[in-house]
Formats: sequence, structure tokens, C-alpha cells
Amino acid sequence: MKIVCESYEYEKDMQDLVNLFYPEGAPFSIHHKDSTLGSTITSTIIINDGLNEKEYVKFFTLPNGLTPLREKSFKKGAFKNHLYQVLSAIAKKTLPWGSLTGIRPCKMMREMVERGEIKEHIVPEVLMKEFFVDEKKAKLVFEIMKNQKCIIKNDKLVDLFINIPICPTRCNYCSFISNELCSVADKVDLYLDCLLKELRAVKELIAEKSYIIRTIYIGGGTPTVLTVRQLEKLLAEINYPVSEFTVECGRADTITREKLEILKKYNVNRISINPQTFCESTLKRIGRKQTNKQIFDAYMLAMEYDFIVNMDMIAGLPGEKLGIFKRSINTLLELSPQNITVHTLSIKNGALLKEDTSQVFGRDVPKMVDYAEEILQENGYKPYYIYRQKHQIGGLENVGYFRDGHVCIFNIDSMEDVSSVIGVGAGAISKRVFNLENRLEREPNCKFINDYIARIDEMVAKKIKFFS
Ligand SMILES: C[S@@+](CC[C@H](N)C(=O)[O-])C[C@H]1O[C@@H](n2cnc3c(N)ncnc32)[C@H](O)[C@@H]1O
Ligand code: SF4
Repeated sequence: MKIVCESYEYEKDMQDLVNLFYPEGAPFSIHHKDSTLGSTITSTIIINDGLNEKEYVKFFTLPNGLTPLREKSFKKGAFKNHLYQVLSAIAKKTLPWGSLTGIRPCKMMREMVERGEIKEHIVPEVLMKEFFVDEKKAKLVFEIMKNQKCIIKNDKLVDLFINIPICPTRCNYCSFISNELCSVADKVDLYLDCLLKELRAVKELIAEKSYIIRTIYIGGGTPTVLTVRQLEKLLAEINYPVSEFTVECGRADTITREKLEILKKYNVNRISINPQTFCESTLKRIGRKQTNKQIFDAYMLAMEYDFIVNMDMIAGLPGEKLGIFKRSINTLLELSPQNITVHTLSIKNGALLKEDTSQVFGRDVPKMVDYAEEILQENGYKPYYIYRQKHQIGGLENVGYFRDGHVCIFNIDSMEDVSSVIGVGAGAISKRVFNLENRLEREPNCKFINDYIARIDEMVAKKIKFFS
């Protein structure tokens, strides 16, 4: 059942919290009421299971001098804390992230430190005491904040993101908007022409507004699904002097020597080769058409060309228990890429897997995530960025790790919302950060390739207006 909040503006966040306790829906109705008298806020939660109704009341004191926006945010936090305590007692369980439902826990704490509300060294304590976050996660946030010291807040520094929402085939857990190559093969060249049009307009914009590109990220989808000729056509258009240029190759079955040579020629210095798992029967089960041999071969090639490599893994893939996951992480450690990102499976609408989750062993997933964190840290990796998604098993998170100083600045910038992003291509979202005003605006391009191609002139005009 859904929660009903009399102050409707809090309903979505309150519902997110209910979903974390009851992913299949709460077995009772929940009604939330609130009132404010002077500085006293009253929060009332009414739980009705069809037979009995119970009321839980809690009072909060509103701090002095808050702006209307901060007041709303204070109330939202207070009501979520109240709901967390009520549901935790009823369900007899705690959540790893306590009452936090947002996708960026580090950003939230960094902003509290920047506003002078707390000192950085008490971040773990605040997370545990005020938001009921468990100790491990609270310490993880603190550790990540320490590893994000490369953040630069400067409105002239921007990141460039280019999206290639095309994949060789579709993996059944994936909820990203991406097209199988066979369904768009006849449009890829046209799509590239549109990308080039947008990129040329962006180049003029950058010159005119004196922006400085700090990092470039070509993501997807699977950018290396493009042919050598197509990749070269795209890369030849992108010639900014950056120290971080990433291409998300992702699927090992799309990586060839010729493609890596082209990436190298155009100064790409980071790529990702994503196993997700080293269990081949899981790979078949999730419809990910790549083999371990392809991953190892692609990795060896990447080493030859001196790329910094990231590898993505997913905890909670169907059919995988703790032992299989541990073996995959151990194999990864033998390869020793500079970056490792450990995701927790999120079962979202839009994924083929959504229909059948009978093989997902949810109970093992927190242990998988803990194992990865412990063994990676033991082996010299440090966590440097984090984000949470809706519908992640156990309300867990995704964490990026690095070794030997190789953080990916683009990942930090985009997850922490600290830098503007010029997003190019179908499904790309541009972000404009106004540091002085602590404000952020977003401007999405059309999600689908066909619409993007049909409306390219509009996309270009919108982008120029957005950054002007
Ligand atoms: C945008 S995807 C693209 C990467 C590339 N196409 C690939 O598959 O290797 C980035 C990462 O998100 C993760 N991911 C995708 N779907 C997910 C899901 N449903 N739950 C958790 N992680 C997911 C995977 O680890 C994937 O590598
Ligand atoms: S996980 Fe990667 S390769 Fe698989 S469908 Fe999603 S974006 Fe494409």
C-alpha cells in the first residue's frame, strides 16, 4: 500500500523509505500528518492494517533563521526520521542507510560541512546518530569524502559527456535506454552526423564563453560498438587538451586492437572493460554475450596500450550466491585494474529481468558488498565515489574504488554535482552548476535516437541557450 501525506511535497521521499522497508509494498496503510506552531513541528503517523489503527506522534523543534527551502528540507528529514523509527520497530529491521533515501549521501554531508553546520571529522557520528546510518556505511562516506579532495569548484570548468546509446545486444538486468545494434544499424551514421553537428556547436559555445573542458567521457551504451571508421570520425571532432579522456568500452566482445589504436591516437587514456561477473553461466543467464577469454584478451590489449582500466562488477546477479561473487572479485584482484566499480543489482522497470527475479539471492547481497569493500581495501584500493539507485537490493549502493591515485574525476564530478556537464547525444543530460548560488539546473536531450535525429537543430539551440 502507498503512504498518503497531507503535505504532499514530502510524499515521494516518504514513499521511497516505505519501499526500502517493504519492496513488495507495505502490508498496511500509512497516513502522515504534520503541523507547525511557532517553532514546534508535530509529525503524526497513522498505521492501519485493516483491523487496528495506531497513531505515532513526535515533536521536533525548528531551528531559527532557516530559509524556506532549508525549512522544507529540515521538515523532510525530520518526518523521514520519524517514519524510519516507526517502520523499523514494526518491521523489526534496520536499513544500512537508515532514513536516507537520496542518491548522493556524500554530497549531502559535504554540503553540511560547507555550510558550517558540522565539522568534517564528525560526519560518521552525524550519519549514525541523526540518520540511523549503520557504522560501516557512515565510515565509508567519511573515507570517500577524504578521497574527493580533487574537487574544484569553478563555474568555467566543465566536463564533456557524449552518449552512444547502442549495444551489441541487450543484457537482461539493464535498465538504461540503449538500443541493440541490429535495431538501429541503418541509423548509426546519421546519428554520428548529428553528434558532430552538436559537437561543433558546443565547440563554438566553449570558445565564446571561455569554458575550459576538464574531462571528457564517452559513455553509453557501448561506444566501442561503433566501427573503427565511425570511432575515428567521432574522435577527430573532439580535440580538447584534457588529462582525463574516458571511453566506456564496457563489453569485451566489442574491443579490438584496431579500436584501441584509434582511441590511443586521439588521446583517450581511460577505458572500461566490464566483466560484471566472471561466472560464465551467470553471463549466459543475464544475456551478456561475452566470455572470460574475451575479457582477459581485451584487458591484455589495454595493458599493451597503457590505458587506465576500470572494471564494473554487479553484486546480486541472478543465480549468484556469495561464493561465486567472491571468486569473481578475487579474479578481478589478480587482474588488478586501476579502478573497480562495485554495483548492487537494481531491479527496475524497463529491465527484462524484472519479470523473473526468482533466482536473485537477496540475502547474500549485503555480505557480497561487505566482502568487496574489505578485500579491495586490503589490496590497496580506496573508495572514491558513491551513489545509490532506486530498487537496489537491500537498499545498498554503488561504490567506485581506485588504486595508486587513479581517481576518475568525471565520476566524482557527476555523482557529487560539483561541475557543469555539457551532455551531447541522445539521452545525454547537461548540467549547469552555479557554485556561488549553490544551485544546479539540468537540460536533457531527447532520450531516443530517432527523436534526437529528427530534432537535432532544436537540441543544438536549447544547449546554446542553456549555457548562455
Ligand atoms: C551505463 S552501464 C554501461 C556499461 C557498458 N555498456 C557495459 O555494460 O559494460 C554502466 C554500468 O552500470 C551497471 N548496471 C547496469 N544495469 C544495472 C542494474 N540494473 N543494476 C546495477 N548495476 C547496473 C553495470 O555494471 C554497467 O557496467
Ligand atoms: S549493461 Fe551495458 S551492454 Fe548491457 S545492455 Fe546495458 S548498457 Fe548495454
